[in-house]
Amino acid sequence: MRFSVSGILLAAASATFVSAQPLSDPVEGVHQYAKREVTANGWDLSNKTYDYVIIGGGTAGLALAGRLSEDDSTSVAVIEAGSSGYEDSTKFLTPDADLYDSSVGTKYDWQYKTTKQNYMNGRRAVWPRGKVLGGSSAINGLYYVRNSKTEQNIWNSLAGGNWGWSSFLSAMKKSESFSAPLKSIANSEHIKYDSSSHGSNGPIHTTWPAVTYKPIGAFIEAAQSAGTQINDDPYNGQNWGTYVSAATIKKSDWTRSYSRTGYLDPVTSRSNLHVLTGHVATKIVFDQSNSRSAKATGVEYAASSSDTRHTVYVNKEVIVSGGAINTPQILQLSGIGSKSLLSSLGIDTVVDLPGVGENLQDHLSAGMTFKPKKSSYVPKSEITGDAKTDSYVNTAVSYVNMDSLFKDPDSILERIRNSIDTIVNNADVSSEVKAGQRKTYDAIANKIFGSNVSPIEILGNVMFGSINIQAALQHPLSRGSVKIHSKNPFTKPHVDPGYLSQDLDLTILRQGFKHIRKIAEQSPLKELIEYEQSPGSDVQSNDQWEDWIRQNGGTEYHPTGTSSMLPRNEGGVVNNKLKVYGTSNVRVVDASVPPISFSCHLMSVTYGTAEMAAEIIKNEN
Ligand SMILES: Cc1cc2nc3c(=O)[nH]c(=O)nc-3n(C[C@H](O)[C@H](O)[C@H](O)COP(=O)(O)OP(=O)(O)OC[C@H]3O[C@@H](n4cnc5c(N)ncnc54)[C@H](O)[C@@H]3O)c2cc1C
Ligand SMILES: *[C@@H]1O[C@H](CO)[C@@H](O)[C@H](O)[C@H]1NC(C)=O
Repeated sequence: MRFSVSGILLAAASATFVSAQPLSDPVEGVHQYAKREVTANGWDLSNKTYDYVIIGGGTAGLALAGRLSEDDSTSVAVIEAGSSGYEDSTKFLTPDADLYDSSVGTKYDWQYKTTKQNYMNGRRAVWPRGKVLGGSSAINGLYYVRNSKTEQNIWNSLAGGNWGWSSFLSAMKKSESFSAPLKSIANSEHIKYDSSSHGSNGPIHTTWPAVTYKPIGAFIEAAQSAGTQINDDPYNGQNWGTYVSAATIKKSDWTRSYSRTGYLDPVTSRSNLHVLTGHVATKIVFDQSNSRSAKATGVEYAASSSDTRHTVYVNKEVIVSGGAINTPQILQLSGIGSKSLLSSLGIDTVVDLPGVGENLQDHLSAGMTFKPKKSSYVPKSEITGDAKTDSYVNTAVSYVNMDSLFKDPDSILERIRNSIDTIVNNADVSSEVKAGQRKTYDAIANKIFGSNVSPIEILGNVMFGSINIQAALQHPLSRGSVKIHSKNPFTKPHVDPGYLSQDLDLTILRQGFKHIRKIAEQSPLKELIEYEQSPGSDVQSNDQWEDWIRQNGGTEYHPTGTSSMLPRNEGGVVNNKLKVYGTSNVRVVDASVPPISFSCHLMSVTYGTAEMAAEIIKNEN
């Protein structure tokens, strides 16, 4: 092992590692999960040196830690702000706990809120993010959908290569172990799939829940009648159409499969991987003697604002995997960001990189509810203790196209294309960031809108006693930012997605809700519905829909873009090897690097990014 401190020190540190609490049997029939030694004692890593220090033991962070530590001559440390989660295993392992014992609003959530949103009646939207080993993959909705070949190839061309669909698809497959649905479920939900589009050997298990409810199959039929055909292979680059997506569920015991259970728990015996929980990385420490590229020498961390600041040293690289909010925050605290922002806070600039925290894009969404004719059409709003029943999570989707949304799609496309100049000219960002944003807008306007790639996702759900159908904007023209406003790493940054700052977003999203009404009016779904509860028949005109969206819109939980992979002179933060510009050994690996938003949920993309990163890093070192 290439630890730069002596092996004796490391052995001493290992001895103080506490064993995770044995898991109590969470749910009848649920396996006793392998548990992994982790430590919550900050002194265990203090002044030690590792080849790689990963900031954030979340979705991407643990996936990368798992891959890099496969080589037992490589030492890896992970610093995670949240706890292990071993103390509360039912919550994480039970799929429908995502609704009925949600981690949102608990200590496992960073509990961010956006700044006041000017175009949403001044509301502040709630922005959950996982704060526990596994990160957001531990608390999310388990939808497993992929982006499209078209979108991935746009990412690739914006990044200047390395990230094309075929490589990225392989990386996503590498993280996945797919199991076919139960026959009864496949029949009732009209599930079609092609196993060869899925991975068979990866750490993250995917399948469909063991039970279903009548409105789901009915939604699939109704969405077709409303004009969007079933896709029988949505995982192979053509992700649009109507289907019930897979979920990150392990079929053998119907538990949630996530970054911790997939990439960390199984490697119980790897002594070259050390995981510290309950500690926030407060900054990356740099050696700036080479004026052209700063070299990270370590990471400072602490349990709380008043706690001892420790430093862990690094031989090779620091990898930031804090997610789309925390990653730009950590970079800014470390002196990487817009010089004017940093100097206004008294932070010395290490790299003047104005793109850090800019280009924030999120999927704005809201849900309509319909009262079911019979309460048996929808699940009980509780965890029952039966593993199969509790495996039910919502994943029915209809990714609709512009033709379904607009009577005259060409005129809306023209309006979008004609608006780009104004949007870019009015953007309150640096000239570099503008240049990159222009490229992303051009790609979205010309290659995404008007193609089969869907601008709106419709989600068919049964939950909390209702049939709930959501619409979510997939390629927002509105952009925002994440910016620190304090030197204190324990102070939350300002998160401003700029929701609806572009009118066209509102126009497109509003049509999505009208389309939901159309779906709800089709057989066999309409026969299951007693009436529309929310917003109800009072809302009819465009103005009324738009008011309702401003008052009810919120996040679909897919922020991205805050460490965009773009050229440096286009506001990029990382290059196409995920390396932060102006540094020799800092990378970002998480959902903040895609430069555009995708027509999908982000987990598949995040695992894919981590698998790509592992290959890149192994090849370079
Ligand atoms: C409520 C919710 C529902 C979602 N539903 C779905 C879904 O159904 N399907 C889907 O595909 N996607 C879903 N998503 C999105 C998806 O889960 C995320 O995009 C993805 O998991 C992000 O991964 P990440 O690695 O970028 O960040 P995360 O997984 O959030 O990991 C970041 C980690 O870094 C840690 N961290 C941050 N800062 C520091 C610091 N300074 N020091 C130490 N540790 C730090 C955090 O605690 C966290 O563990 C959902 C997200 C949420 C929040
Ligand atoms: C690490 O080094 C600092 C400064 O030399 C020292 O104060 C601290 O006690 C050391 N920590 C450990 C665990 O030895």
